[in-house]
Amino acid sequence: MKLWSGRFQADLDNLAERFNDSLPFDAVMYAQDIRGSIAHATMLGECGVIAERDAQTITSALESVRSDIADGKLAVADAEDIHSFVENELVRRIGDVGKKLHTARSRNDQVATDLRLYLRDGIDKTTELLSTLITLLAAKAEQYIDAPMPAYTHMQKAQPTTLGHWFCAYANMFLRDLRRLSDCRSRLNVLPLGSGAAVATAFPIDRRRVAELLGFDGITENSLDGVSDRDFCLEYLSCAAIIMTHLSRVNEEFVYYSGEEFGFIKLPDEFSTGSSIMPQKKNPDVNELLRGKSGRVLGDLVGMFTVMKGLPLAYNKDMQEDKERVFDADETVRISLAVFTRMLAVTEFDRDRMNAAAAGGFSCATECADYLANKGVPFRTAHEIVGKIVLYCVNNNKTLQSLTVDEYKTFSPLFDADIKIAVMPETAISRRTVIGGCEKTELLRQISVLREAIK
Ligand code: ARG
Repeated sequence: MKLWSGRFQADLDNLAERFNDSLPFDAVMYAQDIRGSIAHATMLGECGVIAERDAQTITSALESVRSDIADGKLAVADAEDIHSFVENELVRRIGDVGKKLHTARSRNDQVATDLRLYLRDGIDKTTELLSTLITLLAAKAEQYIDAPMPAYTHMQKAQPTTLGHWFCAYANMFLRDLRRLSDCRSRLNVLPLGSGAAVATAFPIDRRRVAELLGFDGITENSLDGVSDRDFCLEYLSCAAIIMTHLSRVNEEFVYYSGEEFGFIKLPDEFSTGSSIMPQKKNPDVNELLRGKSGRVLGDLVGMFTVMKGLPLAYNKDMQEDKERVFDADETVRISLAVFTRMLAVTEFDRDRMNAAAAGGFSCATECADYLANKGVPFRTAHEIVGKIVLYCVNNNKTLQSLTVDEYKTFSPLFDADIKIAVMPETAISRRTVIGGCEKTELLRQISVLREAIK
């Protein structure tokens, strides 16, 4: 039965009905919808808007509807949306008393409440996953704290660093994600119920009591805004899109580091796939999909912005389009975080390959310039001299490590025997003791900051 059939003489066209219905995708909110209704009915009883006895009949029937759905005894079907479904079922079970539930409420403030509850639950689950991932990244950083690898700028070999430093970089990204979500949660956690359809209800209800029952930190201040605000969806989707962007970036590194040319990463069999034609292939499909899914979640965000941008106050049916965007992003973020974390846990990194790569490509040229600068040569001049040394090496097929001290001296008399030590990757790494650097003690500090942050 429709919740609004009274004023109509003809049934909704069946194609229009299918087009209008949101039950196929909002059924997943049944637990949040029932939770909201139980709080609403409890408050109505306490305030004397409906009889206490009726409120109790309603809440216990709602509880049985909830457990029947959860146990698979009650199929969620044949209704316009989850709100109609639950109410119809309630009336089917307890008759006219059930029809009192919707006193002082509209589906407009109801759906806004349900979605906030749903996202709040989603944020809590995603936060768990992020903190598991950060914990793993910190452990990996510790495991590879002194494993040299090249750092790149413009995808060109830049300077030596360590794999531990690299892991900490990603851990910091995901820590910001975790904090962004917690920020989003605090703004989202206010109750819109009581806003009614648009201009609030005239019944003497206690909105703060409902907020308290549902674990909201406060209530919305303005009913027109309360029913039409979907900023929390935009914020959540932004957080989700940023998480996916981070996953996309790290997985991009997995993709090329696992290629033969780099050989830094050995793809675990459990997380890679073969080719139907090329027998030798082991493809980073999982990593590529993680990269690709970022496009999907960004699409959810852009879709949501596009739905909202022209909407006048207050509720408009366009907003029903919020749920698929939000649910899709919510689910995608969680499966992506979970699968990446599992893959990372069993991925092996080739220390030797990374170490060899760390020294190549004149990655220690900056060390050479720093060496001269430390002896009083202005850095710009030192840079110029080392540029010439690199050119000499390129032309004569030599490296900064293979040049003799005498060869160095032809470029500047300030070079001594210790230049040979200065241009070793290990030396370069050990000199980065400044906060943010890749030296071991400093990295241990970064790791402990990460661990402290997610306690
Ligand atoms: N299914 C609707 C939605 O998701 C619920 C609110 C319906 N309100 C209305 N005035 N038609 O937005």
